[in-house]
Amino acid sequence: MSIDQLAEIAQAMVAPGKGIIAIDESTATIKKRFDGVGIECTEENRRAYREMLLTTPKLGDYISGAILYDETLRQSTKAGVPFTKVMMDNGILPGIKVDLGAKPLAGFPGELVTEGLDGLRDRLKEYAKLGAKFAKWRAVITIGEDAPSGTCIEANCHALARYAALCQEAGIVPMVEPEVLMDGEHDIDTCYEITEVTLRSLFGALYEHNIMLEGTILKASMVVSGKDCPEQASVEEVAEMTLRCLKSAVPATLPGIVFLSGGQSDDDATAHLDAMNRMGAKPWPLSFSYGRAMQSAALKLWSKDLTGNIAAAQQTVYARAKANGLAALGKWTKGA
Ligand code: 13P
Repeated sequence: MSIDQLAEIAQAMVAPGKGIIAIDESTATIKKRFDGVGIECTEENRRAYREMLLTTPKLGDYISGAILYDETLRQSTKAGVPFTKVMMDNGILPGIKVDLGAKPLAGFPGELVTEGLDGLRDRLKEYAKLGAKFAKWRAVITIGEDAPSGTCIEANCHALARYAALCQEAGIVPMVEPEVLMDGEHDIDTCYEITEVTLRSLFGALYEHNIMLEGTILKASMVVSGKDCPEQASVEEVAEMTLRCLKSAVPATLPGIVFLSGGQSDDDATAHLDAMNRMGAKPWPLSFSYGRAMQSAALKLWSKDLTGNIAAAQQTVYARAKANGLAALGKWTKGA
């Protein structure tokens, strides 16, 4: 795969008015989501749920790619069509989560480092054969009393850079995701500071590891008030501070930035993205790569009647994709 092909895929991922649906929950995480709506976490239920999402009619109008979990990349529809074929036929690029999760960082209680580099070269080769065009690796940065430490930020950014290099070697676009968690009582200024330090460290590491930024996508968390902070920033403040932070740390050569929803409500996630895209010229397209903010309404509907509610659940997936696609253009109207 040439450098140009990687750049082309990255650009397609952030095509105007389109974004990513993240359905790459590990088995442990999807179990938590299924538990929340009283669904048993069997392989068939996971397959059926992902089939409902991926076969949403006209999903490709607003969705450029979907991030899958290892199990899902190998699965097919009930009728036997591989999910990757269904996706490519609808103009949706298959992506794959390749990290093996955030684990406690030894020597730094309460902090996490993402694992999964051992054997990654071989796994990526197989994922490329299975049809994956891009990959995702999520690092988790926790804000706390004495956290994050510089060691935690550095260890996670180093791993992200090594992962990105292996992806590009395999002809897969790396989506690098340093998530600064919303959990905590911290204010939005603290979130800004930590996000900026993390992004600067990340792009320093990507530079040191010879990553081709033109073939890389950043998946960022927004600059927001901590979930338990008594003073919650407004939509305008979140949009303004997130943009300012990204402009101070992210090179303009990057083809695009997509956001995670991180526990924001559906409406907040859409409103924040929309507000940023109304704020004039930016160096990169800003779009979405939401998990919960794309799926939660659909999961609730689907869980009430696994086979009877498919059309209704798919309508909500389409509606969320459309709302976020419009927000990626700064053209969303609340309640429209
Ligand atoms: P959320 O949008 O639910 O945060 O999930 C996105 C994601 O892929 C996190 O890694």
